[in-house]
Amino acid sequence: MQTVGFNSILSMRQCILLARRQFSATAQSALSGSQTNDRQLPPPPIKSSDKMRGWQLHNYGDIDELQLSDKLKIPQIRSSNECLVRIRATAVNPIDLAMLRGYGATVLNKMRCQPGDGIEFPLILGREFCGELVQTGMGVPADSLSLGTRVWGVVPLQSSTGAHAEYVAVPSYCLSPAPKELDDCEAASVLYAGLTAWSGLYITGGLGGPCGAATASGGGAHKRVLVLGGSGGVGTLAIQILKSQKVQVLATCSENAIEMVRNLGADFVVDYNNREAVEELCKYAPYDIVLDCAGQGGQQAAESKFDFRQYITFSSPLLANIDKQGLGLGALKNVFDLVQTNVKSVTQRGGLVKWGFFSPAPQGIQFLQKLVEQRKLMPLIDSSYGFGDLPKAFEKMKGGHLRGKIVVKL
Ligand SMILES: NC(=O)c1ccc[n+]([C@@H]2O[C@H](COP(=O)([O-])OP(=O)(O)OC[C@H]3O[C@@H](n4cnc5c(N)ncnc54)[C@H](OP(=O)(O)O)[C@@H]3O)[C@@H](O)[C@H]2O)c1
Repeated sequence: MQTVGFNSILSMRQCILLARRQFSATAQSALSGSQTNDRQLPPPPIKSSDKMRGWQLHNYGDIDELQLSDKLKIPQIRSSNECLVRIRATAVNPIDLAMLRGYGATVLNKMRCQPGDGIEFPLILGREFCGELVQTGMGVPADSLSLGTRVWGVVPLQSSTGAHAEYVAVPSYCLSPAPKELDDCEAASVLYAGLTAWSGLYITGGLGGPCGAATASGGGAHKRVLVLGGSGGVGTLAIQILKSQKVQVLATCSENAIEMVRNLGADFVVDYNNREAVEELCKYAPYDIVLDCAGQGGQQAAESKFDFRQYITFSSPLLANIDKQGLGLGALKNVFDLVQTNVKSVTQRGGLVKWGFFSPAPQGIQFLQKLVEQRKLMPLIDSSYGFGDLPKAFEKMKGGHLRGKIVVKL
């Protein structure tokens, strides 16, 4: 493995960056009242006549369906465990683009029949945020989450009022105080992709044994994981999570991202377009886990050149099958697809194919928070946009080839 040198360069660079950032945050807060303080003066109460700005969707389609309005009703807390957050920064993920086109509508609409989840249209997209806590339900303990606290959080997939707006209401388990080590945009960019990587590795993959997913303890030291697509939102965080747990990490990405992915700590990185380099990956097989963060899907598992014990893909046909064929036939098709893919992969590559999903688990949030505080996890920002330019952020997502996350500042 070749990158010990790169890792130490990365640690030095990270130390210098963090020291600079801490200095400027301290100076800023001394001058102007801190943007990154955990807790500020309680915000003024929200009146029922108050309105907010937000990007709404009235039909599925393309990016021009996104409509900005400044007369939206501020979401209300509808159960005792909910919190209302005034958003300072949010992010755009591939799921936003997919939902804009109607992906998952059949299942998500069924889930929206639950009280508190709203109706299909108008839909506000956006799955993650950093902001200020402005209201809490009666059941939220004031000592853990007091008004004015700077928080980071995620929005459950079935909620029709997402984070591409000035306010969002979410269950209290979906948020926690934001780490001081990150500015608002950085904090808004970690949880959706981070919880996807965490859930794939620890819930689906069982890395770290029974406690790995049930607690924030992580684990998996000395296992070997190949991350496909180490350069994107999920891949950049998966690599850092794995290295923090002393897992041996190999990764694939485009040639122009190799140095960046090495700097994240990956032990061996290859260009996925270079056939000879990809052959090299066979030397390190079988992998305990191959983590597909490159949109390859389970069908590709059997075609890979290397053996594995588990191939976990975040690109499952689960919701798309149900969108196409309805709940009953779609569910049957899902079982058929999974069995067929597994028969092929077990016979050809010796391991199972599993589908991994984002999960808003509090122990996952705690785990990621701990890594950020220990300076073992730092999000990479591909590009950043103002709130009025949200459609441009969607265009950027549509163009692909991302290096980290797309963030939007309010
Ligand atoms: N199931 C879930 O709950 C869930 C949740 C989050 C994400 N996802 C899915 O997980 C995937 C990753 O999400 P993301 O947010 O990380 O997306 P992303 O930011 O768009 O990153 C994808 C990365 O993969 C690289 N890539 C593309 N083709 C590749 C290949 N053949 N081999 C290696 N790398 C390749 C891309 O760069 P280049 O094109 O330059 O190579 C890009 O950097 C997406 O398919 C997304 O839909 C699923």
